[in-house]
Amino acid sequence: MAGAVKVKVCKEAKEVAEQAAQMIAKAIKANPRMVLGLATGSTPEGTYAELAKMHKAKEVSFAGITTFNLDEYWGLDGDHDQSYRYFMNTRLFEKVDVRPWNTNVLNGAATNPMLECQAFETKILASGGVDLWLLGIGGNGHIAFNEPGSSVDSRTRLVSLTQSTIDANSDGRFFKKASDVPRCALSTGIGTIREARSIVLLATGEKKAQAVADAVNGAFSPDCPASLLQDHPACTFVVDEAAASLLKK
Ligand code: F6R
Repeated sequence: MAGAVKVKVCKEAKEVAEQAAQMIAKAIKANPRMVLGLATGSTPEGTYAELAKMHKAKEVSFAGITTFNLDEYWGLDGDHDQSYRYFMNTRLFEKVDVRPWNTNVLNGAATNPMLECQAFETKILASGGVDLWLLGIGGNGHIAFNEPGSSVDSRTRLVSLTQSTIDANSDGRFFKKASDVPRCALSTGIGTIREARSIVLLATGEKKAQAVADAVNGAFSPDCPASLLQDHPACTFVVDEAAASLLKK
């Protein structure tokens, strides 16, 4: 793989959402049967709202696509209002015409996590691989729940969350207190993500500035998992000015 991360800097978060939605809609129009990788968290919420709007205006149809999500909390089933399955259903899937049976989110309540993760990888392969994977980035540089130290060829597996991720996700946006946040998650690996034919990573706000700078300008190192995208042939970061503020000019 050879490449260099491309960075698009937008004025503000709203423009990041519009850009990302345009990129996804363009990819779907080019290939209405595409395989789309998705992320949860605050960052892509605006993108999903834009996509829902575009769908309502009949500008894009999701009827032929297949989706795979990055991760799911271990121990939460899909009906739990903090599960990522619930997030995706309410933020996007129920607002567009994607076929529910073509949406894949790891089952956080599976009895055997290893089998669940292997089946997920097998399904990605059987679908022909992911055409475009939408990512966010943690303040510590994580992608999916690949925390610092995760290896470049890691696969979908049960992982432990770091305290910084637990704290970030219990700041009131999602969970109310740290003790409510599951300690583990099922997460696609960095190797799994790197196999996507294209990657679009979104980052907004100054809390992400250091992670974005480390990912783009820092060493290719598991210390910042997102830096392990540096040699991907088609990876674009779409960031707002605040998240771009520590990038080398
Ligand atoms: C979510 C995910 C995480 C988030 C990251 C940023 O599926 O994989 O890596 O993208 O934690 O989360 P927000 O967007 O809430 O800041």
